[in-house]
Parts: sequence; C-alpha cells; structure tokens
Amino acid sequence: MKKIAVLGAGLTGAAAAASLVRQGHQVTVFDKGRAAGGRMSSKRTEQGYLDMGAQYFTARSEAFTQQVKQWLEAGQVELWRCKTALLSDDEGVISLTASEDKQQRFIGIPSMHSPVTALLQDIPLITGCRVLRLDYQQQGWTLHSDTGQDYSDFDAVLLTLPPVQAQQLLKQSGLPELFRSASDVLEPCWAVAVQAQSIPWGDAIFCQHPQLRFISHQQHKTGRSSCYILHFNAAFSALHLEQSADFWFAKATDILQQELGVQGEIRALVAHRWLYASQRDQVPLPGLLALPERPLWAGGDWSYGGRVENAYLAGLSLAQAVLTYAEQQEGTE
Ligand code: FAD
Ligand code: NAI
Repeated sequence: MKKIAVLGAGLTGAAAAASLVRQGHQVTVFDKGRAAGGRMSSKRTEQGYLDMGAQYFTARSEAFTQQVKQWLEAGQVELWRCKTALLSDDEGVISLTASEDKQQRFIGIPSMHSPVTALLQDIPLITGCRVLRLDYQQQGWTLHSDTGQDYSDFDAVLLTLPPVQAQQLLKQSGLPELFRSASDVLEPCWAVAVQAQSIPWGDAIFCQHPQLRFISHQQHKTGRSSCYILHFNAAFSALHLEQSADFWFAKATDILQQELGVQGEIRALVAHRWLYASQRDQVPLPGLLALPERPLWAGGDWSYGGRVENAYLAGLSLAQAVLTYAEQQEGTE
C-alpha cells in the first residue's frame, strides 16, 4: 500500500484518488478552494446553484460512459434536456438560429460538482489548503501549505493543477519545471450570471461572436433557477482581464438587450474570473508529465484537450502511473 497526496480536488484529482483507493492505496486530497469541484464548481446562491464553470459534459470514451452510467443510476447526474442554438455575428449582423442535434449532454445534480463530490466520498479531503512547496527526502514527500501545516511521508504526489499553478509550485520547490511554456496551455474566461426575463431562445447557445463563447439558460437544470450564464470568449476575457464585475455585468446586459432583444430588468448576480479555463487552440497536448527520478506526476484536462471527460481520463491515467510505479517498487523490494 502506498501513501499518495493528490493536489487538486477537481475531477482529475477526484478520479485519480477514487481509482487509487479502489486499488487499496491510502490517498489524501488537498485543495486551496473551500470545497471540491475546481472548474466544475457551482456557486450556491438564493437563486439556487449557479454553474459558473462547466455547463454540461459529454461522454465519448468507454471508461467515462461507464462512469456516467453509475452517476446516472445514483442520481448524481442527469441528462440535460437542452434546446441548442447558435448565435452568430456576420459582420455586425447578429442572428440566433436553432441548431438542434442528437448529442447527449449531462449535468451534475443538484450542482455541477456533485459527481466530483461523489467520487471523493470517504476519501480524506483537506480544503482551504494551498500547497506552497514540496520537499522530497528519503522517507518521501512533505507538503508545506499556506495554513502553516506540513503533511509528510507521502510515497507519491499527483499534481492536477492548471499548468501555471503546477509550474509555480515546482519552481518554489526547487524541482525541475515540467512545462516548456505553462502559460500557453490554458486561456481565461469571464463568467457572468444574471437574472432576466425568459425568452424561448434555447438553453445551450453556442456563440460565434466577437465577445461571447456560450450562453446557458439554467431553466431546465434541476436545482437551479431561471438564470442566464454568459461565458465570454478567451480573447475578450484576456483583453479585459482586470476589469471589475460591474464592467462584466454592463457588458452582459448590453449584449442581452441590444443584440438579443431581452426586455425588462436584468439583475446582476455573480461575475467570476477563471484565469485558467480552456485549452488554447493549436498548442500541442502535453499528455501526462513526470518528474525524472522522483515519484511525481502531473496531469489534468489539459493533458488530453480540455473538457470534463478528459479530466476524468487524465485522473485514471495518473492513477495508472502510480500503480505501475508501485508494482515496479514491489518487484525491486
Ligand atoms: P480543475 O477543476 O481546475 O482542478 C484543479 C484544482 O486544483 C482546483 O480545484 C484548484 O483549486 C486546485 N489548486 C490549484 N493550485 C493549488 C495548490 N497550490 N494547492 C492546492 N490546490 C490547488 N468542460 C466541459 O466538458 N463542458 C463544458 O461545458 C465546460 N465549460 C467550461 C466553462 C468554464 C467557464 C470553464 C472554466 C471550464 C469549462 N469546461 C467545460 C472545462 C472543465 O470544467 C474542465 O475540463 C475540468 O473541470 C477540469 O478539471 P481538472 O480537475 O483537470 O482541473
Ligand atoms: P459538444 O459536443 O456539445 O460541443 C463541442 C463544440 O461543438 C462546441 O463548443 C460547439 O462549437 C460545437 N457544437 C456542438 N453542438 C453544437 C450545436 N448544436 N450547434 C452549434 N455548435 C455546436 O461538447 P464537448 O465536445 O463535450 O465540448 C465541451 C464544451 O465545453 C464545449 O461547448 C466547449 O466550448 C466548452 N468548454 C468551455 C470552456 C470555457 O472556458 N468556457 C472550457 C472548456 C470547454
């Protein structure tokens, strides 16, 4: 049995931890956030849960399809019966058209982080704990955190953090850097939640628009109320990265009123900045990364191309890397 520290309680970390625990290993998960979920987190508000990050997920691989089936059976996930539409801007002419397809899209119930929480059930999880530095000595890894507490004697460490954060941690620890250019992997996204009069546009609106990437209407999501979440695209989010929430509420209101004809009051709810949200196009996929001669691996959705499903698959691959290492160790003992 190995003692393993998993840094990051998003879906990658949760999938890795659950898989290792199933194989009889002892795992502790650490996250700087207040709860598990990472970029699948929903914010609890008076209006119900607001999905500020991932809006839904699809399942294409056998492994993830099987996992989704289990979540569906346990009531932790539901099919999102969403009407899809396309918002396009053709040289200033905005059009919104139905864009129906047969793709199955899933959501967590009652919030997007429910499946992550379900995987981590019964696994020690330390939240509100940012790991600042890692030390590797003969007896194993020690984690130094911003709470002043140290956690020692881990046989292996899994980093499931966005690349910039993983690279910073390695640097602060005096360890070799794993990424050639960590800042090139993930791009930002400003997410804005508002309450507005309901218009039968569709629930999942893909945007080919100079500023927006996606508009999501929460009306057909169990546990949420009738709010809209607007995701601004990476270029526009990066251009106005440091702007205040008021700027983003004004932008969202302007687009809804001027371009989509929404009438009546638009109430600002939450604006959230994701510094590391989505995979940058045309940058080679890094896959899993490993430190030379030390039992530490890094992976995440970014290993295989963003998306919730890829986070899950990265978690399974990270667990497999540790299992292979443990077998090799046993062979030499
Ligand atoms: P994360 O969820 O980012 O987890 C990493 C965790 O590490 C975080 O919880 C963080 O708090 C923690 N952490 C970081 N540094 C430290 C540290 N030093 N110490 C301790 N903990 C640390 N995907 C889809 O499939 N469908 C969608 O509709 C979709 N929409 C999206 C919309 C937005 C706005 C965003 C941001 C993402 C979206 N995605 C979507 C992508 C999807 O959310 C991600 O692919 C997935 O959630 C990534 O999971 P992860 O575990 O790899 O990383
Ligand atoms: P999917 O198959 O629903 O969508 C993949 C892509 O295909 C969409 O982004 C869209 O461009 C296009 N598309 C699909 N159905 C469409 C339709 N009916 N009409 C018009 N265009 C359509 O889901 P998949 O492959 O699981 O992708 C995950 C989703 O997560 C995508 O929508 C992606 O944009 C989103 N995402 C958002 C991030 C962010 O930062 N906002 C980060 C990572 C993923």
